Amino acid sequence: MQRDEQVVPIRTLVDFVDQEVTLRGWLQAKTGKGKLVFLQVRDGSGLCQAVVLRGKVSEATFEAAKAATQESSLLVSGVVKADPRAPGLPGGYELDVRAVTLLNEAAPYPIQPKEHGVEFLMQNRHLWLRSSRQWAALRVRARVVRAIRDWLDTQGFLNVDTPILTPAAAEGTTTLFTIDYHGEPAYLAQTGQLYNEANIFAFGKVYCFGPTFRAEKSKTRRHLQEFWMVEPEIAFCDLDGLMEIEEQLVSYLVQRCLEECAHELAVLERDTTALQRVSPPFPRLHYDDAVAKINAAVERHETVPGYPDLLPPIRWGDDFGSPHETFLAAQFDKPVFVHHYPTQVKAFYMEPEVGRPEVCRSVDLLAPEGYGEITGGSERMSDASQLVAALERHHLPLETYSWYVDLRRYGSVVHSGFGMGVERTVAWICGLEHVRETTAFPRLLNVLRP
Ligand code: 4AD
Ligand code: MG
Repeated sequence: MQRDEQVVPIRTLVDFVDQEVTLRGWLQAKTGKGKLVFLQVRDGSGLCQAVVLRGKVSEATFEAAKAATQESSLLVSGVVKADPRAPGLPGGYELDVRAVTLLNEAAPYPIQPKEHGVEFLMQNRHLWLRSSRQWAALRVRARVVRAIRDWLDTQGFLNVDTPILTPAAAEGTTTLFTIDYHGEPAYLAQTGQLYNEANIFAFGKVYCFGPTFRAEKSKTRRHLQEFWMVEPEIAFCDLDGLMEIEEQLVSYLVQRCLEECAHELAVLERDTTALQRVSPPFPRLHYDDAVAKINAAVERHETVPGYPDLLPPIRWGDDFGSPHETFLAAQFDKPVFVHHYPTQVKAFYMEPEVGRPEVCRSVDLLAPEGYGEITGGSERMSDASQLVAALERHHLPLETYSWYVDLRRYGSVVHSGFGMGVERTVAWICGLEHVRETTAFPRLLNVLRP
């Protein structure tokens, strides 16, 4: 690189109109005819079209530009011009090229600007990541993660992270990844919740935020084996208080993305009309009423967008399937809370409803447009003897959970919390068909590589 070259990120080109700069990146695509070559240069911060005109550059530069292969790394210098087709937008600048330096000539690149099958793209995930849609989705993810922290940190929550290596199940024994902990079986955490509950007695309002693991035997567009979950837990908070926190957090995330990821959402061709409506309060639906709504629609032989078959009936006491969740969400113009699920379909730690122990003080938030459950939470059982009975009913070993029961013996209080899955939330905000595109290297039932 020459001394007087000014390497700038593409994202900042707005500040360099009519000045000469150098871009450092990769050749995403190339077109041209006659005396013109158009280089689409990507540098991680954005995409810029660099226009090479024969006669205006040295013959060596023109030939280098013409010969450059897709994904070659290069330096491109030139004068920044506002692109009249997209003035003022990120990417709305062109480079009037003066010089091109090839750094590494890429071998023939397997991903071409055409339709590829998902299996092929997943095998080449390390390369697929470079494409514009993946770039946009992962940037939205980063924004969502930051917004989660921003909101919680400013609302008095303390980030206290919880262990990944754990001795016990918290969300059922069927989805545990078992590892060998020096001769003793241990499990990758399905949730940090139980430890979070200990932490509230020290800090009041806490959250943990990290990877969680579920050996899900199902291959759906919503399930990963490894996903990130943020889990707020709050002392002196009941089910209503919990829903208020959830709707504020979720609305904040969506609004941050609309304001600060407009370009990324445009790259993803996301219709943001429905997202713009996401503000508190969200509608609240009792499980009993949800069942009645579903079965009334079943009587009318309704179908649900995205599902070929008729909406299946539901028996009171059963958990919802994806078509049910999609149907319920479609009844409202915002995310909807479904609360008071049957105790038998939920985890052992949920507080039963007073006078009606067959339902528990639980709540799931269902996202619109078929994205399904994005948060799950509840009021926690606060009575020690009730908790012991629940552990016994679920055949969970009391010794392993004795510390958790202790929390109910030393200053027990009403408390609640929830977990929000980052990937499902990002899939919804981005309008992606499958959660696999919301994380750089997804772990799916049949995908462990690369
Ligand atoms: O409903 P879940 O299982 O709740 C818990 O784990 C609670 N302990 C959380 C809490 O109260 N602190 O999971 C919470 C959320 C779901 O709503 C979903 O968004 C996400 O985690 N999730 C998954 N995301 C991707 N792949 C999977 N296999 C997921 N399982 C759950
Ligand atoms: Mg759940």
